[in-house]
Amino acid sequence: MTSVSSPSEITSDTLGVEVRVADEVRLDPAGRAMPDFAVPAPLAQHGPARIIAMCNQKGGVGKTTTTINLGAALAEYGRRVLLVDFDPQGAASVGLGVNPHGLDRTVYNLMMERDADVREIIVGTAVDGLDVLPANIDLSAAEVQLVGEVARESVLSRVLRPVADEYDVILVDCQPSLGLLTVNALTAAHGVLIPLECEFFALRGVALLVETIDKVRDRLNPRLEVDGILPTMYDSRTLHSREVVARVHEAFGDQLLHTIIARTVKFPDASVAAEPITVYAPAHAGSESYRRLARELVSRGSVA
Ligand SMILES: Nc1ncnc2c1ncn2[C@@H]1O[C@H](COP(=O)(O)OP(=O)(O)O)[C@@H](O)[C@H]1O
Ligand SMILES: [Mg+2]
Repeated sequence: MTSVSSPSEITSDTLGVEVRVADEVRLDPAGRAMPDFAVPAPLAQHGPARIIAMCNQKGGVGKTTTTINLGAALAEYGRRVLLVDFDPQGAASVGLGVNPHGLDRTVYNLMMERDADVREIIVGTAVDGLDVLPANIDLSAAEVQLVGEVARESVLSRVLRPVADEYDVILVDCQPSLGLLTVNALTAAHGVLIPLECEFFALRGVALLVETIDKVRDRLNPRLEVDGILPTMYDSRTLHSREVVARVHEAFGDQLLHTIIARTVKFPDASVAAEPITVYAPAHAGSESYRRLARELVSRGSVA
């Protein structure tokens, strides 16, 4: 790798998530060469879906933001995407303009009633190719009600089976806990994506999350893989952010994605507008970073 001889050769891009060295080699924030992820070729046919759970038991780390914006970016690249809102807060639904609080049938009904039809509960969004399976506060009862069920960990897997062939990717937006709903998401999933806030204590919870993932892989879902760790809320002006990324790289090696999501107020602004950032501010660097994430996941084989 090219060594950086003089700091004056380095310039940051607008959000500082990559650096150029003498205009030739671009580096990611962990100091690795930043590949140019190619725009994925269109798909001739769709499905079966790869299911990816967005997990971190800490709240406010960017799970919902990543689910919505990665989903929208993949849909822009022609992928058929289903977002599963799996948090009783319903933020993924709301963020896509679907008000789940007035709905009387949501993912909760699919979990609890054997004869509910998933196709009747999926809602289309303003983004072509992007559908959502909404959730609302009803889902908070499921955790308790599922405890007595047979195969209580594989209920979501059963719920998604009838539509798995119609989508290329299903993204499950987990709630901030490692309880039975999250275990259901991990049991249904092929891969886990871990958004990690670039804050000093962020790494503390990751060991417990990885332990949970390992247990689910051992006992319930041998195919489960960690698709990547995605640093979020990155602030290039702080040494702090760079240190967190360096620590993640040390601890997790190439599970650390090249793509990093910078901290910008455009994300909360887009959620207030109930639109993905790729629609709200398509030319903004935040949109480009989720498109890059989509391309990186396709190039890693996590998404078709
Ligand atoms: N990269 C970012 N920069 C700034 N704010 C962000 C970013 N990602 C998410 N946010 C905001 O932070 C809050 C929490 O994000 P969210 O995606 O809801 O986290 P989680 O689903 O993990 O609880 C939201 O208000 C969201 O708009
Ligand atoms: Mg959330």
